Amino acid sequence: STGADFVVVANRLPVDLERLPDGTERWRHSPGGLVTALEPFLRARKGAWVGWPGIADADVAPFEDGDLRLHPVSLSSDEFRDYYEGFSNATLWPLYHDVVATPVFDRTWWDVYVRVNQRFAEATASVAAEGATIWVQDYQLQLVPAMLRDLRPDLRIGFFLHIPFPPVELFMQLPWRTQIVRGLLGADLVGFHRPGGAQNFLWLARRLAGFQPTKGSVGVRNRPGVVQVGDRPVRVGAFPISIDSSSLDQLAASEESARRAAQLRADLGNPRRILLGVDRLDYTKGIDLRLHAFRELLAEERVDASDTVMVQLATPSRERLEHYKKMREEIEREVGRINGEFSRLGRPAVHYLHSSIDRKDLVAFYCAADVMVVTPVRDGMNLVCKEYVACRNDLGGALVLSEFAGAAAELTSAFLVNPHDLEGVKDALEAALNIDPAEGRRRMRALRRQVLNHDVDRWARSFLEALGAQPNR
Ligand code: UDP
Ligand code: G6P
Repeated sequence: STGADFVVVANRLPVDLERLPDGTERWRHSPGGLVTALEPFLRARKGAWVGWPGIADADVAPFEDGDLRLHPVSLSSDEFRDYYEGFSNATLWPLYHDVVATPVFDRTWWDVYVRVNQRFAEATASVAAEGATIWVQDYQLQLVPAMLRDLRPDLRIGFFLHIPFPPVELFMQLPWRTQIVRGLLGADLVGFHRPGGAQNFLWLARRLAGFQPTKGSVGVRNRPGVVQVGDRPVRVGAFPISIDSSSLDQLAASEESARRAAQLRADLGNPRRILLGVDRLDYTKGIDLRLHAFRELLAEERVDASDTVMVQLATPSRERLEHYKKMREEIEREVGRINGEFSRLGRPAVHYLHSSIDRKDLVAFYCAADVMVVTPVRDGMNLVCKEYVACRNDLGGALVLSEFAGAAAELTSAFLVNPHDLEGVKDALEAALNIDPAEGRRRMRALRRQVLNHDVDRWARSFLEALGAQPNR
């Protein structure tokens, strides 16, 4: 058969294979913002997607999923442990998120990371048509661009990092820092969320790999700078990712969503006010910090548990890793403590769900929430806060947002907080709960202007244009 003209390569496929206790298997939607952002765009473009099916030791043949062609790459259980849980999520994830947990540097994990990246590169080389455009995603696959270029010099290769790119002095701790930089420089375009990440990478390309950024190379938003790698220019820039804003806006405006939101409020006992958190259960998300702030507000009687509830949805994530287990225990202890002190029978102060929920239910939660609380200690972008804004065409609701989420640079009309500053978080929560309705509408209108004008389609187009690919094909 003829190969694909446009291929996304990501650690995960947009669907995740789930093995049920009785041994049967079924597909479900994959967790996380990367899939949320890329899936609608790639479906519209009828592209191919190379990725892991989500469980170890699953040998799945390529298959069609609607307009998408999916090419599974299998991982053994050892590779799952060393490449995915180990190097990707216990080395790179904490290192790139400002070492909020201590990264582990393990040579075996690195060797397996190299081997798995090579497998992804080979799988991609075998599905790509002559001259195809390949878009490699995220920290799990930073060696793929150079490996793929070796195999297939005819391809146009873009790379996008969905998490923060760290400050230079943190990146320099990585024993394999030069290999990673060289891996990324295999791409024709390397994209980050923020200009600071692009600048850090340009500096490292010169220092570690010896390649000179050409004049005027400091990339501003959507206007990449350039590193000259031999005779090949590599462009480097910032491209802040977003969501499918208009489809969420429409879904939220439907009668069904209004009905579900009303039902939800009733299920919660029709409280006067609802605070909402929605996150993967990850130690970067600051779920513990926001619960702590909420507990103190209740204790100081600045918030009354008889009329205000908090809902925290926490999607299970990377559950075998120590830092994740510990964070889960801390969160659950804090929820227990708050409910022990401030609940009444049939009326918990915090509703905590450790599960993932589907899009329609999520939209109902967004529509019902008076205050959305997004307090990561570090987050590349954070799509949840943009989703909340896209759902509030009623101009209701208020957003409390961490300065340390990439989204804070765009959503300046939110109540911006330093999540480590508990008093500041408490003040912001209280202000958001008691906001004057006209002021709330003014803020929400400004937030919506940003989110509706800068959607994921615009992000993908600006990246692909900078890559020199035709975004319409
Ligand atoms: N999400 C979901 N079901 C859930 C919780 C979250 O589909 O139960 C989605 C959410 O709508 C968002 C994504 O997961 O699109 C999370 O993206 P974000 O960028 O906020 O964080 P990430 O998980 O990628 O770190
Ligand atoms: C973040 C990462 C993605 C990842 C997602 C879910 O969004 O940037 O690459 O897919 O989290 O995490 P998981 O480890 O379950 O794939």
